[in-house]
Amino acid sequence: MPNSESYELAERYRSEFPIFRWASYLNSCSLGALSRRSRAALIECADLWDRWGASAWYEHWLGACDDVRAGFARLIGSDVSETGLAPSISAALSSIVSAVDFGVRPKVVTTELDFPTVVYQFLARGERGVETTVLSSPDGVSVPLESFAEAIDERTALVATSHVYFTTGAIQDVSAITRLSHERGALCLIDAYQSTGQLPVDARELGVDFLLSGALKWLLGGAGLAYLYVRGPLIEGLRPTAVSWFGVEDQFAFDSAGLRLRPDARRFELGTPAIPTVYTARAGLQIIEEVGMEAIRRRVSSLSEDLLWRARAAGLRVRCAPTPETRSGILMVQHDDPAGAVERLAEAGVICDHRPGAVRLSPHFYNTTEDNERAVALLAL
Ligand SMILES: Cc1ncc(COP(=O)(O)O)c(C=O)c1O
Repeated sequence: MPNSESYELAERYRSEFPIFRWASYLNSCSLGALSRRSRAALIECADLWDRWGASAWYEHWLGACDDVRAGFARLIGSDVSETGLAPSISAALSSIVSAVDFGVRPKVVTTELDFPTVVYQFLARGERGVETTVLSSPDGVSVPLESFAEAIDERTALVATSHVYFTTGAIQDVSAITRLSHERGALCLIDAYQSTGQLPVDARELGVDFLLSGALKWLLGGAGLAYLYVRGPLIEGLRPTAVSWFGVEDQFAFDSAGLRLRPDARRFELGTPAIPTVYTARAGLQIIEEVGMEAIRRRVSSLSEDLLWRARAAGLRVRCAPTPETRSGILMVQHDDPAGAVERLAEAGVICDHRPGAVRLSPHFYNTTEDNERAVALLAL
């Protein structure tokens, strides 16, 4: 068995996540487990609402928004001026894409393995002249770098793809994709929803122009908050047409005489953030930072290799990337009745989810090999 990683990390944190009292929770790529800290933060937010009313904005809540922007910036090695908040990845995308000039370069390159909300953004602009090239995946797991190299050309404005594919867990070589994009004069946008929180991500090192993520999954923060990164030197030249009063200079001047966009990435923010989620997300980011991304990657990799080994040993069919370095904490077990299997596992206290043709299992640092063992035993029945 390849997993000899100590249990120390999971043992230390297991009691922070009450769901483990009754379940083997293996669904962090869909929704990170609720921590005691996030629950307490939610109650703190409600208490502030109760105690201060609208004054809570100025006394507490705007500061909490600053904290999560800064926390996300630290996580991805960026400057806080390069980060902003959004209600969802889809909303962040719509603001960022609204700033991209498709006049001379009408083409976007994306892939069939990316989350549909990414592709929709460009298909919706089809009638306005945006041409979307959707690269296919020959093995259904990842898209070869050569396909990107062939597709990105001097008519390409933007390459938009994922760091980790949501259905296969395959890790893409983002540095190489960014290099290819930049060599041909295109911008590169990375959907990092499935990588931040399970893999170390350094936006500057990757060289990306835009990076999007959210609190919901590996960052343990709940629903209703996404994070955006825009590479510093680009910001001033980008003028979104999807805008809001959170994206302008001196927002509390309530001046509608002109549009003065903020000089930082907050010009892409779209309205009032979901404050309860800002609170739960801040607690989630704290836990991730405390555990540390290197330790999390080691743990998640060790658990996902263990899961793969067990699944194969039990005769289950698994479709995944070829090496531990290109695999992440998302494992797809092929199944004839994935919805039925997920229901059966849930009845036995193993929580996971399904996508067409497969059961999806996603261990985080708080999981153990016993969780894997239970899931595989039930799937093999
Ligand atoms: C990789 C990826 N991108 C985007 C999304 C959708 O994000 P949102 O609902 O915040 O727009 C998801 C949702 O599960 C996802 O897994």
